[in-house]
Amino acid sequence: MPWENILNNTSYISVTCTVDQLTVNNEMFVNVKVKDAIVDKLRRETSVRPDSGPDMTGVVIHLYWKDDRAEVFIDTSGETLAKHGYRKIPGKAPMLEALAASTVMATKWDRQAPFINPMCGSGTVAIEAALQATNRRPGLYRSNYSFMHLKNFDVQVYQAELQKLRDQVKEVPGLQIVATDISDDAINISKVNAGIAGVENVIQFKRCDFALTDVPEGKEGIIYFNPEYGERLGDVKELEETYARMGDFLKQKCKGYTGYIFTGNLDLAKKIGLKARRRIEFYNAKIDCRLLEYELYAGSKDKDRREKVSQE
Ligand SMILES: C[S@@+](CC[C@H](N)C(=O)[O-])C[C@H]1O[C@@H](n2cnc3c(N)ncnc32)[C@H](O)[C@@H]1O
Repeated sequence: MPWENILNNTSYISVTCTVDQLTVNNEMFVNVKVKDAIVDKLRRETSVRPDSGPDMTGVVIHLYWKDDRAEVFIDTSGETLAKHGYRKIPGKAPMLEALAASTVMATKWDRQAPFINPMCGSGTVAIEAALQATNRRPGLYRSNYSFMHLKNFDVQVYQAELQKLRDQVKEVPGLQIVATDISDDAINISKVNAGIAGVENVIQFKRCDFALTDVPEGKEGIIYFNPEYGERLGDVKELEETYARMGDFLKQKCKGYTGYIFTGNLDLAKKIGLKARRRIEFYNAKIDCRLLEYELYAGSKDKDRREKVSQE
């Protein structure tokens, strides 16, 4: 390959690979072989041998090798796009930003009604909701991509695209996004992360048990929980009680809302004591999870009315 036409000889290079080949038992050797081939070619053509190593901060080349077929890719992102760049402090058992964002998108939220997020942890769900409502794109929080280290990178094109993202940001007066958690640390971390994302004024934070979260009455908002589910944190017996309390809270304090619980433990979810109207599949790394949706009718009359409307 004419790597000298694609890469600067001053770029730091790293190689990643996906290998499914009987003769390979350690992918590191594959990475080193590919890296040597590229930097040696650059040295032959330009007399300079670029630096290389495992960091994904410069040029990233990816090798896909299955049986007798291998393909080499330029990875234009480097560090995964699933991280959105604002979360400098992860907290305990945080959701990956892209996962949190896609679960918010899977809800019925219209980006104007109240969005209530008890058990907010490091704030990821509430922050992603705030980003979506105010049209803030993850590209605003990241300043390094692998494509920037390629020879034909045009900084002016990039700056113009970035400016478009800045111009798209809008404020939504009266928007109510509430994030609460029982842990002081979690609330402090959430505030820092929201500050980095520029949405600290969009979210109201409060340290409290979830049952003391203020849910604005008379609205048809969203209430979204991501409780512990026994895989990484929390003891299952104690959690059974917490899930039952969450069910009571949804029934008694969240009338008119649509409730969501994101969990990887469907046995615990049964303790909520409400019938889920939708069960949306997600994977949290390798954990098979569900976003459970609950319609929390304002009252039996209201329920009758809605059913009548849906039949018409
Ligand atoms: C799985 S974590 C949430 C992670 C979050 N989605 C994130 O991305 O960072 C669950 C959170 O529930 C909180 N929590 C546990 N019991 C609680 C309770 N009774 N009331 C309020 N928060 C509680 C914990 O402090 C923890 O931060």
